[in-house]
Amino acid sequence: MTIEGDSKQYDLLSAWAERTAKEFSKNKETIMLTAEIGVRKGLGSKLIMNYIRPNYSGLHFHIGIDPYGDMIYPHYDNTKPIKMDYGEKMYAEFQKDFAGEPRFNLLKMPDDVFFEKYYYGVEFYYDAKQYVLNRYGLVHFDGPHKTSDVLTETIFFARRAAPGAVFIYDDWQKYNMAICRDAAKEFGFEFITNGDRKTILQKTK
Ligand SMILES: C[S@@+](CC[C@H](N)C(=O)[O-])C[C@H]1O[C@@H](n2cnc3c(N)ncnc32)[C@H](O)[C@@H]1O
Repeated sequence: MTIEGDSKQYDLLSAWAERTAKEFSKNKETIMLTAEIGVRKGLGSKLIMNYIRPNYSGLHFHIGIDPYGDMIYPHYDNTKPIKMDYGEKMYAEFQKDFAGEPRFNLLKMPDDVFFEKYYYGVEFYYDAKQYVLNRYGLVHFDGPHKTSDVLTETIFFARRAAPGAVFIYDDWQKYNMAICRDAAKEFGFEFITNGDRKTILQKTK
């Protein structure tokens, strides 16, 4: 199965997923939660799971947040609302490609609805146990590309970030990344690296 992505620098996402998994394996915690905002066909989520699971000594859970649904909204600061191809056909393809993937919940809703519904954590039912998880080890920000949206996402996940957590932002040159970086800094994050598509922050304090 080949899953197409729509961006670049997936190697950076894979490398940091692997690295974070190895770092988190040194902790006493035995559960790691990761998230991707904006899933589309699923390449980002696939890489996160593929590079974390073989490298993490504990149990890894992943969520994807995406409404699909042919929603009409402005994709960038100061642009008009438009419809892209993120519709039900794409969602059906995604479901087929990820059928049976364990410990992966696709939450089919936009980020702002997710923030309200899952303020106190996300639930998983796995191997005869209930898990309610609210501490994130890695987040891939690749949903809306408006500064106000990415800033709100940054603050929501920074409040719930585990020590050593990594935030990876796609298309960071399309919005005001400096504001998001400054906000994350208030929660102990520092700038690690960037390329022309992705930038990486890590919670070091
Ligand atoms: C650039 S694509 C994601 C690409 C994907 N991460 C990859 O690596 O292949 C953007 C996705 O964000 C989703 N999206 C748009 N607005 C959103 C929102 N408010 N919350 C969550 N997802 C959103 C769209 O439905 C679309 O699937």
